Amino acid sequence: MATIGGTSVRQLAQEYGTPLYVYDEDHLRMMLDTYRTAFRSDRFETGVLYASKAFSCKAMIRLIQEYGFCLDVVSAGELITAKQAGYDCTKVFFHGNNKTPEELALAKECGVGTIVVDNLTEAERIRDLYSDGKTTVHALLRVNPGIEAHTHKYIVTAHVDSKFGISFLNEKELVDTARVLQDAANVSFDGIHAHIGSQIFDKQAFREEIAKLFAYAGHLKEAYGIEINTINLGGGFAVRYTDADAPIPIREVCETILNACAEENAKLGNQIRRVYIEPGRSIVAEAGYTIYTVGTLKKTPNRNYIFVDGGMADNIRPALYQAEYDAFLDGKEDAPKETEYTVAGKCCESGDILIQKIALPKAEQGDLLVMKTTGAYGYSMASHYNKLLLPAVVFSGNGKTRTVIRRETYEHLLSLEED
Ligand code: LLP
Repeated sequence: MATIGGTSVRQLAQEYGTPLYVYDEDHLRMMLDTYRTAFRSDRFETGVLYASKAFSCKAMIRLIQEYGFCLDVVSAGELITAKQAGYDCTKVFFHGNNKTPEELALAKECGVGTIVVDNLTEAERIRDLYSDGKTTVHALLRVNPGIEAHTHKYIVTAHVDSKFGISFLNEKELVDTARVLQDAANVSFDGIHAHIGSQIFDKQAFREEIAKLFAYAGHLKEAYGIEINTINLGGGFAVRYTDADAPIPIREVCETILNACAEENAKLGNQIRRVYIEPGRSIVAEAGYTIYTVGTLKKTPNRNYIFVDGGMADNIRPALYQAEYDAFLDGKEDAPKETEYTVAGKCCESGDILIQKIALPKAEQGDLLVMKTTGAYGYSMASHYNKLLLPAVVFSGNGKTRTVIRRETYEHLLSLEED
């Protein structure tokens, strides 16, 4: 019988009901510890930012704080979650391509340490917002180095039309924006940021990114006298969803990045003093599981369906990205996997298929089906489609469990509706 964080799947399901998101807290801590120890250098300052969009809740933010990481937020909602968790907002990096004036004002009020500026308009807003001199803020400028990195392959093509940041090909706007930030009285313009994609398996894509960003830092100094000292490389490190995935171990990713940075920095006479990475998925994905109860089994001419009590409302990734997942039937881990199943959710949508094809032992009504690697972009992208209730989230570690997000109730579901 399977356990997660030292507690059996059966007990978790009995105690908290299904569908249920469960995080193995020991695994989360192991990942945080790996990043903390692996992303260190004696050649420059380093920092890890957790991209909270992957999974944000107060308990998660408190873990991030405990391990001393910085935090990437992209909305007032993510910022307020951090604040309510008691997170030190000076370590928050506020991202986003369309931060509203209200969100920027909130960032100032919360004492957000760094704003990652997306465009010229935003740079001007920030200059004006902080012009009263009451507080100061650090700024990084999001650039688009023209590396399009996708799963299993990366294409060195200028993706000039990305909605994020300013392209290296758009030098005038980039330099104009950098100047606004540099000249703004209460803004410390530290450097540049890029994020080249997500679920990236290829180290070469990161080396390419590093080469381009460091070279651009040198170029800004030489051509325009704009001297920056910080580079934020974004996240995107791949995880294992199924056996077909072979992600680079995180220690190796960190080592590759640090070595490449040191090499490029040497070319600049060590101009860059601080390097950040910004992982989301790779911290939380593999720690997360979703437990479902098998309701009905249905045979069609070409498929054996397993119907579970959740679906695209709690995990949109298969429907949205054709993402693939692995799963097992609790208690039948060692039984021969003799049947090919399709795992489907309960939503009124033909595309609500969680797993297209998976070999499993014979399934029965009442079995617990556990989907693996659901910890990133699962709860954070969950919806109320068909008015399904958001499942609870439980942390399980060291043989103990605790609810970190309660299961939604119908009362909550209808709480915004006027009578
Ligand atoms: N930094 C920035 C600026 C980002 O935009 C992202 C992700 C990250 C860091 C973290 O990337 P990660 O390490 O998690 O790959 N919903 C999609 C993923 C969207 C990622 C968006 N940005 C999915 O479920 O696959």
